[in-house]
Amino acid sequence: MIPDAAEKKARYAAAREKLHALWSGEPDGIARMTSAACILHEAMPHAFWTGFYRVVGPELVIGPYQGTLGCSRIGWGRGVCGAAWASGETQVVPDVHAFPGHIACDSRAESEIVVPVRDKRGTVIAVFDVDSAEAAAFDEVDREALEEIFSRFVV
Ligand code: SME
Repeated sequence: MIPDAAEKKARYAAAREKLHALWSGEPDGIARMTSAACILHEAMPHAFWTGFYRVVGPELVIGPYQGTLGCSRIGWGRGVCGAAWASGETQVVPDVHAFPGHIACDSRAESEIVVPVRDKRGTVIAVFDVDSAEAAAFDEVDREALEEIFSRFVV
C-alpha cells in the first residue's frame, strides 16, 4: 500500500535522522550506501527494490541494495537509472511501461524513482533507485525528501 503524503513525510523524516547520524560516523561510501539501502527500504513499504547503482567507468554497476535480484550493469543513458545519471536529474516515473527504454529487472515493476548521488565536487557517483509493484507509488514528496537526504551523502 502506498502511504499518504503525511505518512511518507513522517517516514522520511525518521529515516533522515537515522541516516544522517549513521553517516556522520562512517566515511566509507559503500558502508554509507548499505545503511541507506537498509533504512530507506524499511521506510518505504511500497518498494520491492531499494538501492544503488555506482558509476564505474563507462557504466553503472550494481551496489548495495535490498530486494529482488537486480541487473548487474546499466549503460550510460540506458533505462531510468541511466537517464538519471546522464541528466543529473531525479527521474519520477509513475508508469514504467510508458518510459522509453525502461529496463525490467523484475517484471513486477510498475513505477520508480531514481535520484542522482553526488560527491563533494558535484560529480554523480551513483544513483539511488526505488522500484514499486504499484503504479504511481512515487511523487514530489518522495523526490523532495530523497534529494534532501542525499544532499548530505557527500563523501
Ligand atoms: N528499472 C531500472 C533498472 C534497475 S532495476 O529495476 C533494479 C531502470 O530502468 O533503470
